[in-house]
Amino acid sequence: MSVNNYIQTHKERFLNELLDLLRIPSVSADPKFKEEVFKAAEFVKDSLLKAGADVAEICETAGYPIVYGEKIVDTNLPTVLVYGHYDVQPADPYELWDSPPFEPVIKKTENHPEGAIFARGSADDKGQFYMHVKAFEAMMAADDLPCNVKFMIEGEEEVGSDNLEAFVLENKEKLKSDVILISDTHMISMQDPSITVGLRGLTYMEVEVTGPNRDLHSGTYGGAVANPINVLCKMIASLKDENEHITIPGFYDKVQELTAEQRQRLNEAPFDLADYKAKLDVATVHGEKGYTTIERVGIRPTLDVNGIWGGYTGEGAKTVLPSKAYAKISMRLVPDQDWKEIARLFEDYFKSLAPSSVKVKVRSHHGGSPAVVSDSSIGYRAAEAAMEETFGKRPIPTREGGSIPIVALFQKELGSDPILFGFGLDTDALHSPNEHYGVQNYFIGIETIAAFFRHFRKLSES
Ligand code: BES
Ligand code: ZN
Repeated sequence: MSVNNYIQTHKERFLNELLDLLRIPSVSADPKFKEEVFKAAEFVKDSLLKAGADVAEICETAGYPIVYGEKIVDTNLPTVLVYGHYDVQPADPYELWDSPPFEPVIKKTENHPEGAIFARGSADDKGQFYMHVKAFEAMMAADDLPCNVKFMIEGEEEVGSDNLEAFVLENKEKLKSDVILISDTHMISMQDPSITVGLRGLTYMEVEVTGPNRDLHSGTYGGAVANPINVLCKMIASLKDENEHITIPGFYDKVQELTAEQRQRLNEAPFDLADYKAKLDVATVHGEKGYTTIERVGIRPTLDVNGIWGGYTGEGAKTVLPSKAYAKISMRLVPDQDWKEIARLFEDYFKSLAPSSVKVKVRSHHGGSPAVVSDSSIGYRAAEAAMEETFGKRPIPTREGGSIPIVALFQKELGSDPILFGFGLDTDALHSPNEHYGVQNYFIGIETIAAFFRHFRKLSES
C-alpha cells in the first residue's frame, strides 16, 4: 500500500487519536495540571513507538520532560529532526468557550467548511506535531521512509522552553540532523499556502509600582498621595510616542531595516485589510507609522501590555487608593535585537520614568531570540515542492509575528536549517477561547510532510 493510500485508509483513527491527545489538559503554565502534562509526554512516547520508532524515551529535565524518538533506516541517508510541543496554553477564560476546551468537538466554520477540531492545543501545537507522527507511521507502514527521522517534542514551549537549551547542548550528537521540521505556525490560507521564514523574538517583563505602604481611603487621602495605578498608566503611556514608536533609548539600535525591494516582496503576499478588520471587529488598524500591517507584524518590533491589575476589581464600588499596581509588559523583537539587552534597556528606562512619589520593581520573565530562516536551502526547496504537490500552488515565504525561541538556538547550536512548516490559519484562535484546527489542514499536513521526506531525499542526493 502506498503512503497516501495508507493515510486515506486510516483517516478516522488518525483523527480519533488526536482527539484523545487533546483530551489531556497539558497546561504547562499552571502547576495544577502537572500530572496531566506528564501524561501527555507518555502519550507522545507511546505514539512514537506504535508508529514504528526504534527508540522513544522520556528525557527528564528540571521541568517537564522532552520526548525523544528516532528511526534510523540507514546512516548514509539524510536525517530529519522534528520539533514540536505537547504543552498547551491555559484555557482561561473558560466561560468564553462554546464547548469545553479539553472535550474536543468538530464543527464547521467559515474558514473550515469541512470542519475544524475545537480544543485547546488543537492548532498549537498538538494537531500540528501529531501530523508528523502520523506521516511517520504511514511511511513506515508503506515501507517507504526515505530519510532517517528523529523527534524532539517538548513540554515547556508555552512557558519559555527553559530547559530545552541545556538538553540541546548536552545532546548535540544525538540531535544531529540535516534539516529540522517545525509545524507550529500558520499559512496564509488554504488557497494561498505559505512557509514562514521569519519569527519575532520576545522579552517579557513584569513591573510593580508601590505608592503608600497600605491601601488608603480615597477620600481622606485622594489628591494628596500618588495613586500607583494612575502613575503606572502614565508610565506605560510614555513607552510609545504618537507614531507608536517605542521610546526606550537604544530600543531600535539593532533593528535590521529591510531594503525597499524586500519590503515590496513581503507586501505582495495576499492580504485583505477589510476582511482582517471585519474578522476582529475593529474600525481601523493601529500601529507604527510608516509600515503596513504585514510589516508591523512581520518585521517591526512592538510593545504590549499583557495584563494590568491593582486596587479593587470586585463587585460594586470600593473607594480605595491602592498601595500597589502591577503590569505584565512584553516586547516582540526582530533581528538583530537581543532579548536580554532589551530587558535591561526596558528596566533602566522604566525606572527612570517613575516619579519620586512611588517605588518601582522590574523583573524579567522569559524571552527568546528572533529568527530568520533561509528560503533557498535544500530543506526549504523540499518543503516548497511538497506543498506545491499537495496544494497545487507554490507556497509564498512569509514572516510571522509570533515567537518560537528555540529556532534561533537550533540554528546556532545544531547548524541545520529549521523549516517552519505550519499548516494552521491565523484565524484558528491560538491562545484564545475556541482554538481550533481544520480537519482538512490536519490531513493535508500529513500528506505534505510525507511528500517533504521524498523531496528532501531526492534534493539531498542531487
Ligand atoms: N505556536 C506559537 C508560535 C507562533 C504563533 C508562531 C503564531 C507564529 C505564529 C508558539 O506556541 C507560541 O505561542 N509561542 C509563544 C512564545 C513564548 C511563550 C516564549 C509566543 O509567541 O507567545
Ligand atoms: Zn506553539
